[in-house]
Amino acid sequence: MPRTKLIAANWKMYKIPDQARDFFQAFVPLVADHTRDEIVVCPPAIDLSAALEAAKGSKVAVGGQNLHWEKEGAYTGEISASMLLAAGCTHVIIGHSERRQYFGETDDTVNLKLKAALEAGLIPIVCVGEVLEEREANLTEDVLRRQCLRAFHAISAKKAAKMVVAYEPVWAIGTGKTATPQLASEAHSLIRGEAAKAFGQPFADAMRILYGGSVKPENAKALMSQEEIDGALVGGASLDPKSFAAIVKY
Ligand code: PGA
Repeated sequence: MPRTKLIAANWKMYKIPDQARDFFQAFVPLVADHTRDEIVVCPPAIDLSAALEAAKGSKVAVGGQNLHWEKEGAYTGEISASMLLAAGCTHVIIGHSERRQYFGETDDTVNLKLKAALEAGLIPIVCVGEVLEEREANLTEDVLRRQCLRAFHAISAKKAAKMVVAYEPVWAIGTGKTATPQLASEAHSLIRGEAAKAFGQPFADAMRILYGGSVKPENAKALMSQEEIDGALVGGASLDPKSFAAIVKY
């Protein structure tokens, strides 16, 4: 069974609700006849209701950029899986390298968040990837293995069914440097191998692994035509409707 690709936009901390509305107004018609892939846009939490309203009736899904693992509680500033779900989100990004780098997320919090998202029925997009120093020190495989092993810890294949992983080499994020299709494919194979160990080969064969890191309309086709690459997680180039539509339609 071929894997349906997922093309995901990660807006990070960009756009106010009016700008989110404008984006959808322009973007939805551009992809109206596009049925090949699944599309999701992950705006800042403050934009979710505007985005969901504007995406209504289209095939474009809306997701969160983060969540807290508890159902509710005294966690100022946080949002739970059930809140994202109730708002209308279907997807959520977990463990993005910026969250790991600037907000103290660890492999263990990623695991807790992944469990919470799966429990709620959201489609989690779990981010893994090495920093430049790790790649230069030949540690990429160790880092990816550790990140996967700990993210997948104590989760059953049945529970994990909807999980998506995004390979995002940190040195390629927002830098204009893209991993070569070959290099990305190698990392994806390794991640798929870890998923096979944790959940079994059939699960791993069906699991989608996205590539993220300076994906642009110009390089989308070369990346997306790799057998191992099942979609993209797009930051900068997803902020403009035309550019994101061009990536979706690579
Ligand atoms: P970028 O970001 O496309 O701007 O490199 C990707 C990401 O951080 O998900």
